[in-house]
Amino acid sequence: MDLPPFLLDHWLAAHEFATPPIRYNLAASTGPQWSVDELLALGGGKNIGGVKIGYAPPEGGKRLREAIGGFLGVDPEWVVVTTGASEALLILLCLATRPGGNIVLPAPAFSPFAVMADAWGLGVRTYTLSRDDGFRQNAEAIFAAADGDTALALVNTPHNPTGSVMPFEEIEVLAQKLGERGVPLVVDEVYHPLYFGRQSPTAASVPNAIVMGDMSKALSLAGLRMGWLVIANPDLRKRAIDARSYFTISSSPVLEDLAAHALDNHKTLLDRLSAVATTNRAALVAFMKRVSDIVAWAEPEGGTVAFPWFKDGRDSRPFCQALAAAGVLVAPGDCFGMPEHFRVGFAAQADGFGDALTIFERTLRG
Ligand SMILES: Cc1ncc(COP(=O)(O)O)c(C=O)c1O
Repeated sequence: MDLPPFLLDHWLAAHEFATPPIRYNLAASTGPQWSVDELLALGGGKNIGGVKIGYAPPEGGKRLREAIGGFLGVDPEWVVVTTGASEALLILLCLATRPGGNIVLPAPAFSPFAVMADAWGLGVRTYTLSRDDGFRQNAEAIFAAADGDTALALVNTPHNPTGSVMPFEEIEVLAQKLGERGVPLVVDEVYHPLYFGRQSPTAASVPNAIVMGDMSKALSLAGLRMGWLVIANPDLRKRAIDARSYFTISSSPVLEDLAAHALDNHKTLLDRLSAVATTNRAALVAFMKRVSDIVAWAEPEGGTVAFPWFKDGRDSRPFCQALAAAGVLVAPGDCFGMPEHFRVGFAAQADGFGDALTIFERTLRG
């Protein structure tokens, strides 16, 4: 099978992981990074020296599932630990695959949604997030995109790459309407609980919703490769745990232990993310006003990214290349199938975000 090139990772590999790495990383969709020492020091200190390096249970160890259940306010029994939300996605697609079946997905979106669905043999039906209404994920449009062969529908809130947030009440209504047709609603909430306006509860307790979450984004610990599914239905959950056994067997117990410790201290992690994201977002709002003769945007309502566009419709890639050469990395919109856009991450760069915007403006004005 030929998978299309993963353009975003090619771009990041060429710059973020280059030697030396790019000076200002505004392409990342994560929060400010933590070192192992910083993480271990939280909450009065933690020692992982005694952890046995065997397998963990496929569904995740009891302590971690309890920590995730506590974080989301759901029964820990509903939690299935996965290798990032990436594996959670693969498990759901694998279990949903059936002859002629399809999945309803947002466009634009995190590219693995459609690529992996296609790889599993599912048809892809998309609903479009329009910049004219702030990239809203509209329950009616999503429901209308489903048909008699739809196996799953997915929303991503806060959304990558646009930062739009789907109101909780709309998620509830959509999940209920899809449920009447026997179609589960997958809610990818890897950026939960980072909101800039009204706070939104997790969808983990919404009937007929399956939540995908992780520790990469809001908890700023992408290197733990820790994610989860929250599945209330015991039969589906059993099948998901079996799929996990087949895919990756388990997480590392070392990383599970670190993850549980991180969740015990989630307030500290979220506070740091929120401080960086809120400060940088305010700087970005002012910047976007200054350059509004050239670019437009919809202010992100949650998460760590925004998706501005060139008003004259030009392909952003040459500009992104010039900006990278000047030391600032943003992601070209063609990575999301929309070349006139570019993605700006505003939560990873704890220092120097203002300097990066100065270089940005200088490059923009040529
Ligand atoms: C919307 C969304 N879902 C899922 C993922 C997968 O992340 P991870 O595997 O690190 O949990 C990403 C990563 O960028 C994402 O943006």
